[in-house]
Order: sequence, then structure tokens, then C-alpha cells
Amino acid sequence: MNIAIIGTGYVGLVSGACLSKLGHNILCLDINKKVIQKLKKGRAPFYEPGLSELLASSTQQDKIHFTTSYKLATKSDAIFICVDTPQDKNGNPDLSSLNEVLASILRNAKKDLTIILKSTVPVGTNEYVNNYFKLKSDLSFAVISNPEFLREGSAIKDFMNPDRIILGLEGPRSKRVMQEIYATFIDQKYKIFYMKPESAELTKYAANSFLATKISFINKISHLSDAVGADIEEVKRGIGSDLRIGSSFLDAGLGYGGSCFPKDIKALIEMEKKFNIKHSIVSTVEKVNDNQLEYFIAKIHHFFKGQDTTKCALLIWGLAFKPNTDDVRDSLAIKLIKNIAPQFQHLYAYDALASKNASLALAEIDNITFIKKKYKNIARTHALIICTESQEFTRPNLCEVNKLKHQAIFDGRNILTKQKKKLKTQGISYFGIGQS
Ligand code: UDX
Repeated sequence: MNIAIIGTGYVGLVSGACLSKLGHNILCLDINKKVIQKLKKGRAPFYEPGLSELLASSTQQDKIHFTTSYKLATKSDAIFICVDTPQDKNGNPDLSSLNEVLASILRNAKKDLTIILKSTVPVGTNEYVNNYFKLKSDLSFAVISNPEFLREGSAIKDFMNPDRIILGLEGPRSKRVMQEIYATFIDQKYKIFYMKPESAELTKYAANSFLATKISFINKISHLSDAVGADIEEVKRGIGSDLRIGSSFLDAGLGYGGSCFPKDIKALIEMEKKFNIKHSIVSTVEKVNDNQLEYFIAKIHHFFKGQDTTKCALLIWGLAFKPNTDDVRDSLAIKLIKNIAPQFQHLYAYDALASKNASLALAEIDNITFIKKKYKNIARTHALIICTESQEFTRPNLCEVNKLKHQAIFDGRNILTKQKKKLKTQGISYFGIGQS
């Protein structure tokens, strides 16, 4: 099938590349000419494991192309809308990009089209888009809600091995089109759930909100764990082994960041307010998450109490919002650095993938050096702060760590909990979360 993808961000480009791998002819459109030029030269505008290789092979097989032309895109059989829906100043999703896409499709469409909403949009957007085209065009537009559940850093794996595919649609035509698009997944017996568009739209918010709720729940329990002398990793094993709970998304730490959870939680809170739904759980989830960074920073302040921190330096590992990505949007590491940089003499910051984006996000911080090797200048620093659960941070070289002037590690993702005892025998003070 000839498919157009509107928006070449994390969702659009991964979806386009994967759909081309499923055998479809893909045309990716973006209004950003620079991005399209880069893509035509085989360069992805962001890092995602396996994406460059997939784009290169699909380009070689003539299965994927890039354009800025809606005239071309509206010649496709189906159009996936994958543009960003960032939160506006009131916490609601900003649909201005979506509206620009609708207007461009309307101006250029010369035949009936299937429109597939993959962007995360408020409940009711499918109906809005349906009415938009009904009122403004004599052509027939089928509008389907197909939310994504891709995690940055594992997006291709998540797309090609979906736990489920959610299709909010009405009528046999829409169903047929989607069955042709996802024929491979149907053949491989992946779960496809057909539902009302409103249910599909709400499923997306409910999924992300529940995952964020698990994170805030374990983070709240980590405070109690600190207070009573328990070990939150043991508690996690204790509850996660219950199949009704499951152990995923129960890693206590700095809390959740990224371009999705914070935005989607805010959107759900605003939806609850709009429909006067009281006693919001997700409002508390958001408050707990916002507090988690302060809770962790308080541990650093407590350790340095009585010292002149303007004469101290820190080594910081992990700048992205999670491992295996260069994305620093709503990164807890960035927030932590902005908070503590003014109180210290200098910070040395390391992230194998995200240093460039982090330096842009931290442009106003003048006492920070981005290092290319994680132990560089370690002897000049007083303590190490770990902000992401990157694999490369899980087995620190203790000979190097012993060079820290205060031999202290603040582990914002509890990735060294199994080495606490060994660190202690080396005279290294270890501070995790929920790890007394
Ligand atoms: C999330 C959802 O997982 C995905 O389904 C949706 O489509 C997009 O949003 P993503 O934001 O890419 O994906 O990353 P995710 O792996 O979910 O992590 C989000 C944040 O939660 C990260 O900051 C991570 O460090 C944090 N996290 C995750 C925890 O603090 N504890 C955990 O146990 C898991």
C-alpha cells in the first residue's frame, strides 16, 4: 500500500521506517526542509537504536521517500498523522500542528482518503477531524485512531513486536484498510483491538498515566523505605512478583521525564477538570513526580552540609531523560543541573549520546564542562551523581571512583544497589533512593 507519514519525529519516522519494512511504499513528509534534506542524505534527525540502518535499507530498496509536498502525500492511499501535540500554557495538548496538517490535506486532496491519527490527541479529536473534513470537502475521509506505545530507545522493537494494536474506527472500509496496513501483524497473530475512536484515544492516556502512576507509587514508597530502613529494591521484588502487579515500571529513582509522560499526565488532568471528575489520582502522581527531584537533591545538600560547596565540583553521569536516547526533553538530569549548578564551583557532565542536546538545553549554565569520557577530571570532583539507568554506569571502575575527593556516589536510578556493600568496603559513601 502507498502510505504517507506526516511528521518525521520519533513517532513518524520510526512508524514510516517500520511500515516500509512491512512492505509498504512509504512517503514521509515534514514541513521542515532541513530535516527532509538530511533524511534524503540518509541521516536521521535524532538518535534511535537501529533507525539509521532501517532507513538506509528501506531507501536502498526504494521503499521509503521523503518530501515536503502535500500534493504528493495526498496521492497516497492512507495518511498517518504523526505531528507533535505539545502541551499549551494551560496543560492542554496544542493542536496547532494538527490543524495545519488538516488544512494542507484539504487543500491538496483530489481523492477519498484514509486518515490515521497516531499522534497523541485528546479524546474527541477523531470526531473533530471527521467533522472538519465533512464540513469542508465533498471527498470521503475515513478517520481512524491508532495510538502508539513506542518507548524512546526501543521504539523499533516496540513497533515490530506490539503488545497490542489499538484501532479506533467505524465501518468496514476503515477496518479493511487497517487490516491491509497491519496484515503482517495479523498473520503473526498479534493482538488487534477494534474499538470506538473515543476508547482508542482514552486508552493512550490511560496507558501512559497508569505507567506514570506505577513510577510515582514506588517513588512514594521509597520515601517510606528510607524512613523505616527498608530496601526499596527488595520491596519492588516483593510486590512485582505478584503477577497482578508486575515488576516493570517499579524502578524508584529521580522520577519520570521525557516528552510523553509529563505532557500526557497534564492532558489527562485537564480532561478530568473539563468533565468535573473529582479526586484525581494523576494530579497526585504529577505532584509526587515533581517532588522526587527535590527529595533527591536534599540528599546531596545534606551530605555537603557545613561545607563551602562553591569550592566543590561534581561529576554527573547521564543527561538524557532515559538511556539509549539523545532526547533531553523534560530530563531530570537537566532539571537537577539547573537547580544545583549555582551552588557549586563546577560540574563535569557526561552522556555518550545526549551531550550536544544537553549543552543546548543548559546554554545559560557557565560552570559546566561536557566531557567525552566519563572519568575525565574525576580527581577534581567531590562526588558522582548518576541520573540515568544506562548500562555503562552499572559497573563503575572503583579505582577511578576512589579518586573522588569525598568518595560519594548519589545514585538517582538505584543502579548500584547490588554493589552497596562493595562500595562501602572501599570507603565510598553510597546514596540511593529508598536505600537506607
Ligand atoms: C513512554 C511510554 O512507555 C510509551 O509507551 C509511550 O508511547 C511514550 O511514553 P518513553 O517516554 O519513551 O515511553 O520512556 P519510558 O521508558 O516509558 O520512560 C519514561 C520515564 O520514566 C523515563 O524518564 C524513565 O527514566 C522513567 N522511569 C521508567 C522510571 O523512573 N521508573 C521506571 O520504572 C520506568
